[in-house]
Amino acid sequence: MNTNPAHKAKDIAKQWQIQLLEWYAIQGRISLPWRNLKGENAPYGVYVSEIMLQQTQVKRVQEHYFTPFLNAFPTLESLAKANLDSILKQWEGLGYYSRARNMQKAAILCCEKHNATLPNTRQDLLKLPGIGAYTSGAILCFGFRQSVSFVDGNIRRVLCRIFALREPNQKFLDELAFLLLDTKHSFDYNQALLDLGAMICTPKSPSCLICPMQNLCNGKVNPTLYPTPKTSSLISLTLHLLLYKDSQGRIAFVYEKGDKGGLYQGLYNLPQLETGAVTNKQGFYKCGTFKHHYTKYAITANVYKLDSKHLTLLTQSLPHTKLYFFSQKELETKPLSSLCKKALSLYEKYEKSRLP
Ligand code: ADE
Repeated sequence: MNTNPAHKAKDIAKQWQIQLLEWYAIQGRISLPWRNLKGENAPYGVYVSEIMLQQTQVKRVQEHYFTPFLNAFPTLESLAKANLDSILKQWEGLGYYSRARNMQKAAILCCEKHNATLPNTRQDLLKLPGIGAYTSGAILCFGFRQSVSFVDGNIRRVLCRIFALREPNQKFLDELAFLLLDTKHSFDYNQALLDLGAMICTPKSPSCLICPMQNLCNGKVNPTLYPTPKTSSLISLTLHLLLYKDSQGRIAFVYEKGDKGGLYQGLYNLPQLETGAVTNKQGFYKCGTFKHHYTKYAITANVYKLDSKHLTLLTQSLPHTKLYFFSQKELETKPLSSLCKKALSLYEKYEKSRLP
């Protein structure tokens, strides 16, 4: 078989497409909701799904986020006009909240420039915040049914394995993806490629023995060499979170304005204390500790409570911090980080365990 990847891609393209589409028809996740959108609003639904799927597992998006989000914001216009808190509330727990903020900015731009619809050219899509090469390709193919190829993390891995490439550059991968594309069935073809990467050609233990493409694959003898695995090191972080309830039972929060580009921009969190503030002062009671992963951080969070009578201690420990006090009812509409929700539930357990 040809060892030059571009030549090989041309040689195998037809066979590759037939085998992949046959497999997809039987094993593919054809019933995923964003693969069955109809009508003129379909590009918007595809857009929402692609942004959600950028950093989140298909199962979570499908079970908890995609449909509720579209019910809450059925059109680009409704998203553009929504209150940011209500968008972030729908996004709560998905992480990488800039995705949701960018979607609203993009929706506003679409209302101003494109008659409240998504543009259908790569050039215009790329001008929208949060939409890069992959997402623009996916919107064109899955939303507008255009015959385009694209490369995301899953597709990159599949291509690297098939052609036994360790460290390919993006341009070359784009070229290979284009050479293999089934231009007549690009919707199913690209969805199939995503499924192959997610279900068979997985990062750590790919299922080469049941792979429908094994006869065409150069990397199957040592698949995890392709591409060279990235060493991702987590950064350890210890946080001290404070739970202060005032005499009416309202909890104190800080609002992450994100002027420093913070990860939780637009969300409410429990106030954080400096190590010295909790270790040196009386009045703080430790309720417990939990572990939490968020982006590249491995967080150890200590949760402290401070009695309502210690309001001065609260304000002294958090100089220059604006605090917001919310009742349980008000919290239902405020977007909270998962870190914050875990801390609240730890606190509730702690209080319950103290009941006589
Ligand atoms: N990941 C990114 N886009 C996807 C899609 N359309 N289906 C499944 N997983 C995906």
